[in-house]
Amino acid sequence: MQGNNMEPLTREEARKLFDNYNEIKAMQHLYNAAIKEIRTKLEILNDEFQVTQSRNPIHHIESRLKTTESMIKKLMNRGYPVSIDSAKKNLNDIAGIRVVCFYIDDVYSVEEALLRHSDLRLVDRTDYIKTPNYNGYRSLHLDLEVPIYLYEKTEYITAEVQIRSVAMDFWASLEHDLRYKSTGKIPPELPAELLQCADEIAEIDRRMQGIYNRIKDV
Ligand code: GTP
Ligand code: MG
Repeated sequence: MQGNNMEPLTREEARKLFDNYNEIKAMQHLYNAAIKEIRTKLEILNDEFQVTQSRNPIHHIESRLKTTESMIKKLMNRGYPVSIDSAKKNLNDIAGIRVVCFYIDDVYSVEEALLRHSDLRLVDRTDYIKTPNYNGYRSLHLDLEVPIYLYEKTEYITAEVQIRSVAMDFWASLEHDLRYKSTGKIPPELPAELLQCADEIAEIDRRMQGIYNRIKDV
């Protein structure tokens, strides 16, 4: 192996590294394709809503491909083998799509419309809106399998779709930021305060939904 003293690689080692690199490229291509497919479906649904209802249920869409560093970290933390095959088998969020909707009801109408796509297979569904996480986190998580049509075969790729309202995203983004900012020990009263913030934001989210419903019906 290439040690700290930077010994030159043997021909065999260089070939292995190159093969790995090409395999990673191929994997990234597949998961990128899954992101594109799902994003396109969501964008088409959003455009249709604009045409038929003169409004958009989706505020914005974010997506990301998990970095190799982050894949290795998650595999190691969970005690899985570190390999491309293991990542494909054990990680459901290599392709991640976040759909931020205007109102709570939009989350479920986007879900319903997306799941009508007969080429998508729902692998797992966690409704953290109906049952928020212990810390107050709210979002609807769908693990979906999407077919990717390659030249010679079809591969089914799993992607994690998080659907949430702007208000849920507001809390989740700040909580994420706070968690990564805190290097030392978290003051013991903070989790309860964050939970209270989540509940208050959820209450406002419901009120905004109510206001929208009243405006919609006039
Ligand atoms: P995975 O196998 O990683 O899906 O594990 P899991 O099913 O236990 O995780 P879950 O599906 O609940 O959460 C996956 C993703 O949701 C995370 O990577 C975050 O993006 C988001 N998430 C979950 N919980 C929280 C939370 O408490 N705060 C924030 N900000 N994001 C969260
Ligand atoms: Mg999950």
